[in-house]
Amino acid sequence: MNPSPIAVFDSGLGGLTVLRALRERLPHEDFFYFADTRFLPYGDKPEVFLKERGVLIAEALARRGAKALVVACNTATAAAAEAIRAATALPIVALEPGVKPAASMTRCGVVGVLATTRTLQSERFRRLVGNHAAGVEVIARACPGLADAIETDGPESPAVAALLDAYVAPLAAAGADVVVLGCTHYPWVAEGIARRMPAGTQLLDTGEAVARQLERLLLADGRIGGGTGRLTLATSGAPQAVTVTVDRLFGHKMQVEHWEP
Ligand code: DGL
Repeated sequence: MNPSPIAVFDSGLGGLTVLRALRERLPHEDFFYFADTRFLPYGDKPEVFLKERGVLIAEALARRGAKALVVACNTATAAAAEAIRAATALPIVALEPGVKPAASMTRCGVVGVLATTRTLQSERFRRLVGNHAAGVEVIARACPGLADAIETDGPESPAVAALLDAYVAPLAAAGADVVVLGCTHYPWVAEGIARRMPAGTQLLDTGEAVARQLERLLLADGRIGGGTGRLTLATSGAPQAVTVTVDRLFGHKMQVEHWEP
């Protein structure tokens, strides 16, 4: 047992969709969630910036006493996972779009992927598709502006609706029967995506798979358990603004502290 918290980070509040699955699976762990909202969105930042930022955050979280790290951001994983693994000795779970399960789930052989520009342009994504979706048609659609609109305007806002109209239409037109939510912000708008696809389309998010992987890792390292289910939320941006967004997304207020890695 190890009572230190598990650190989770994302560019903003998308990773909270992952955190929800982590806390359900591991209710006796403490979590420290860091939203790097000062630099939201990550999706259109240069790879070199994301690499440096990811390493800086991971090192600071290790110094802060985290016992494991979850990179709850597909974009940060695509750009920085290898650099982060090289820079810290922490056990790390980094998530990436669920292309592999989607390729085995599709019946019609067409899979849609919604993700950020940076994720889709990455070498890691190219390899993921090449290695695990060779016999399948993958329709990948970048969604610039969507993650920030979800946070700033809210999942039900007209701004988000207009972006979803534009980004989901090509997947419906191509006949995809599985849609990969390749950005941790997108589960917040899963209903809006489902409404724009034919009935029966499966949406795939990786929260639960990440939770199972984290559990395996903690067990293997003898680090599981010892917490009390405590959650600390921190941001590099303005705590007040994050409190408002958390309230909008979760329907209740939570304390948010300022933290600079
Ligand atoms: N939530 C992030 C992801 O999973 C990125 C959103 C953004 O900052 O662009 O890719």
